[in-house]
Amino acid sequence: MTLKGKRLLLGVTGGVAAYKAAQLARLLAKEGADVRVAMTEAATRFVTPVTLQALTGQTAWTDLWDPRVPDNMGHIELSRDRDLIIVAPASADFLGKLAGGLADDLLSTLCLARRCPLLVAPAMNVEMWENPAMQRNLHTLRGDGVHFAGPAAGDQACGEVGMGRMLEPEEIVAEVEAFFQPKLLAGKHVVVTAGPTEEPIDPVRVITNASSGKMGYAVARASREAGARVTLVSGPTALATPTGVECVRVRSAEQMFEAVKKAAPGSDVFFAAAAVSDYRVKNRAEQKIKKGAAAGLSLELAENPDILAWVAGQKNAPFCVGFAAESEKLVEHARAKRAKKAVPLLAANLAQHALGADDNEITLFDERGEHALGRAPKLELARRLVAHVAGMLAGEKRARAKA
Ligand code: C5P
Repeated sequence: MTLKGKRLLLGVTGGVAAYKAAQLARLLAKEGADVRVAMTEAATRFVTPVTLQALTGQTAWTDLWDPRVPDNMGHIELSRDRDLIIVAPASADFLGKLAGGLADDLLSTLCLARRCPLLVAPAMNVEMWENPAMQRNLHTLRGDGVHFAGPAAGDQACGEVGMGRMLEPEEIVAEVEAFFQPKLLAGKHVVVTAGPTEEPIDPVRVITNASSGKMGYAVARASREAGARVTLVSGPTALATPTGVECVRVRSAEQMFEAVKKAAPGSDVFFAAAAVSDYRVKNRAEQKIKKGAAAGLSLELAENPDILAWVAGQKNAPFCVGFAAESEKLVEHARAKRAKKAVPLLAANLAQHALGADDNEITLFDERGEHALGRAPKLELARRLVAHVAGMLAGEKRARAKA
């Protein structure tokens, strides 16, 4: 229940993507939010108020003149007690109205009379999106402090391909959750490595580590939620790149090292969450190795560069966070690893608690000792880790100011 207690107003405007608003309303309610719905007349042509009413358990409001609105001041009352207004989908027409400050129906009036922030998820045809009038409106809305979730590029209902597709409901929920996170890393550049690496043996076989990449992706998402610019350097995973995160995809440790050498210098925080292969195959076969071709098979291995140690050893290195997945003696191994890698912070877990799972249990080790982050979903642990790092960065800043 990541949105428990949050009071939201979901505005739905007229566009084909309105059918996704029903799923969005359901997901927001499932996360514990109080979801009040207001629809434009055009939206009701695509999805009925009854559907949204059933999914949120509340009246879906459509009419500025509805006599049931408390005090007959619907345009004020319905958004007054809200923490956030979300307009999804936000049509080209509606964004134009917002930019111009128009208030000619219930939803536009609620938006104009709001006291809370406004998040819009645009949805429109690519030509509409690229139209100079639309771009001018976007510029105005950004200047007015309106928050944007998307749009994305991709297939459109009209058969065209391009920018303007509304984010999927799950992605919009992630943006809403991000909105409520404290901006502890605002203005910072964060680099994260994640996932396993693959070291080729021949064209079809690899040496790899059992790593889903979930923890590293959660750290990337939590950093972005905290307001940072995030570069994620990822080995092969089946995970979607978190919204707003720049992802560089690599396969081998050497490729990961090259990508990190480009991204990490000048960054503020480096999280090394990848399970990097310690060794690569030296005598890699150009063609697929045939079974039985040799009596026994030996692979000659060469040690891979230690990416974290390289970053931590740079002049003006970013704040480095190492990860350790141990199978036993967690405290002993974690302390030794923190010292060996010379990093200020090490996040350790037992591999058997974490591999591939959605939950994890993490203990942090820094110069003050041990800090148990507890057992929780990886995203929640990543948020706690980000908060700890932000606290340590603030402490460093204070110490520098004193010196
Ligand atoms: O030495 P070990 O692999 O146990 O250390 C784990 C930490 O070091 C992790 O943060 C991992 O991402 C990082 N690492 C790295 N490059 C390597 C090996 C590990 O960045 N070649």
